[in-house]
Amino acid sequence: MSRKILVTSALPYANGPLHLGHIIEHVQTDIWVRFQRMRGADCIYVCAEDTHGTPIMIKAQAEGISPEALIARVADEHRADFKGFIIGHDHFHSTHSSENRHYTDLMFERLRAAGHITTRSVRQAYDESAGMFLPDRYVRGGCPKCGAADQYGDSCEACGATYSPADLLDPTSTLSGTKPVWRESEHIFFALGRFETMLREWVASGSLQESVRAKLDEWFAAGLQDWDISRDAPYFGFEIPGFPGKYFYVWFDAPIGYLGSFKALCEKRGLDPDEYLRADSKTELYHFIGKDISYFHTLFWPAVLHGSGMRRPTAVFVHGFLTVDGQKMSKSRGTFVTAARYLELLPPEPLRYYFAAKLGPGVDDIDLALEDFTARVNSDIVGKLVNIASRCAGFIARGGGTLAARLPDPALYAEFTAAAERVATLYDARDYSAAMREIMLLADRANQYVDTHKPWALAKDPTQADNVLAVATQGINLFRVLMVYLAPVLPQIACKAAGFLGTSLSRWDEIATPLLGTPLAPYEPLALRVDPAVVAKLIEPTATKTVVAAKKSEPKMTETPSTIAIDDFAKLDLRIAKVVAASAVEGSEKLLQLTLDLGGETRNVFSGIRGSYTPESVIGRNVVMVANLAPRKMRFGVSEGMVLCAADESGRVYLLGADEGAAPGMRVS
Ligand code: 2FM
Ligand code: ZN
Repeated sequence: MSRKILVTSALPYANGPLHLGHIIEHVQTDIWVRFQRMRGADCIYVCAEDTHGTPIMIKAQAEGISPEALIARVADEHRADFKGFIIGHDHFHSTHSSENRHYTDLMFERLRAAGHITTRSVRQAYDESAGMFLPDRYVRGGCPKCGAADQYGDSCEACGATYSPADLLDPTSTLSGTKPVWRESEHIFFALGRFETMLREWVASGSLQESVRAKLDEWFAAGLQDWDISRDAPYFGFEIPGFPGKYFYVWFDAPIGYLGSFKALCEKRGLDPDEYLRADSKTELYHFIGKDISYFHTLFWPAVLHGSGMRRPTAVFVHGFLTVDGQKMSKSRGTFVTAARYLELLPPEPLRYYFAAKLGPGVDDIDLALEDFTARVNSDIVGKLVNIASRCAGFIARGGGTLAARLPDPALYAEFTAAAERVATLYDARDYSAAMREIMLLADRANQYVDTHKPWALAKDPTQADNVLAVATQGINLFRVLMVYLAPVLPQIACKAAGFLGTSLSRWDEIATPLLGTPLAPYEPLALRVDPAVVAKLIEPTATKTVVAAKKSEPKMTETPSTIAIDDFAKLDLRIAKVVAASAVEGSEKLLQLTLDLGGETRNVFSGIRGSYTPESVIGRNVVMVANLAPRKMRFGVSEGMVLCAADESGRVYLLGADEGAAPGMRVS
């Protein structure tokens, strides 16, 4: 029987846009879920909007709309962003839903019946002009320890001290600017301390990463305090049954939102949620979260579940924070990159790949270093992976379009498939960076195989046609294995590759036998290079963006400047490339389609040289190409670079070449 697994990512707050910090977590989760499914597990992935609490209430008020309207709008934006990053939630729900209300009430009643709920009076800041109690973060004043002005009510950013808002010097309400008063009100508490033994036993069962476990030891040593789970009206949330005017604190019903979302899915699919949730469930439950919310997920949440007679998480997987170019994401520094902005500029899969290449099983922070991002994805996805298919596809097409009936090097194929369990173990342990390394080493091997057997050289001799087909068939089969290994990370490329190969790439075990004697569909580029100039725009300060936008309607400057800086010249990646194939482009009088070998990497380039050169006359020539020109979509296909020529006044062009000895791939400077 296959494993039944329920997986969640943390619920995003419904009061602001998703940023790349949200995306890395959802990508991490999505890769794991896709991998488990490829291994045959019945793996369900749910998430939801986290909708309750004061910030959402205040933001809706400020916009003059209802919290429900705010949530609906933000949820639509979030859904679009998740879709853009190919995050395959089975269900994306809302904590402001009947399903969440059901479990929140049920679990509270069970906790209460079991004696885990207590009440007592709490003294809290109250804003008389706004008519509401103030969460700690809504009171600011001087730090009681170091005197720094304008600090939050719970901690000082200057000296790190933690305290209560009542200790602040000269406190004011951030809502009205008035001085808060102190009022008592009855609050409802969850007796966390009663669960220490259970939690210690849960932690010992290996449900947590080592550093998270160590943190729990510290928390145990400090003593587990009762947890205040109520807030007074006005509050946007669920009113607590039996306690009029009291609302569940957002952090009480947020993790329960995982179950609410799952319940909604079960109703859609006719599943029984209890099979997953009862205390003796044989299914598995995993939560992916950031390290800032460990306390809620590793103490409160397992205790609330257990106290309600339900199963505990099998494990909680904690990741670190995302930094951009080594900096904490910050709006003022321009390193706060929203998911929507990224998607305006770039396709999702390069970032999915880059995150995978950086994510390990630990809680270390992950840096999105933009130059490294460009270099890495262009080299790995385009230069290594896709290159194998693109350089072999043409030979299969010219050899009749069908793969050979046997592999010339079955041992090499076996070497590739022998990595399947190793790679699987790495994915399962969330050690994606090690998995990507392993896969890219194999991609290097595949490219070396093609380099060694030089099908373009063999193709010159008609008696070698079978060999050419055999070499290309081997290359395509190695590509297929790699594509299966990368399908959890690159689902769209895998889908396109499956169309090209005429086979599915959805199961880990389907590589057991090679693909032989079957036709391939015409090859279309599977991925394009990422343009560093576009990547740089991710962190353009907003002000610059506005200026650029405002300038759009002005006439473009097209004159060549009289001088350029050496840095401008250095932006050009000029390379020697060998023309390995050339053909006239149907429907164009000017263009030749060139296949260029860049020393291991193949490029498709449309070049306006047809008036001066026949295809045959350029095959075999070394030319100079601009290798880092952003790919351009033309009527006839995508052009992946530019070949340099001189031109006379009549329009005749002269290809630039290189002296004897220059080899494909050499840099021109
Ligand atoms: O920290 C946050 O963004 C919360 N909205 C996460 C909630 S996760 C779960 F517990 F609901
Ligand atoms: Zn201080």
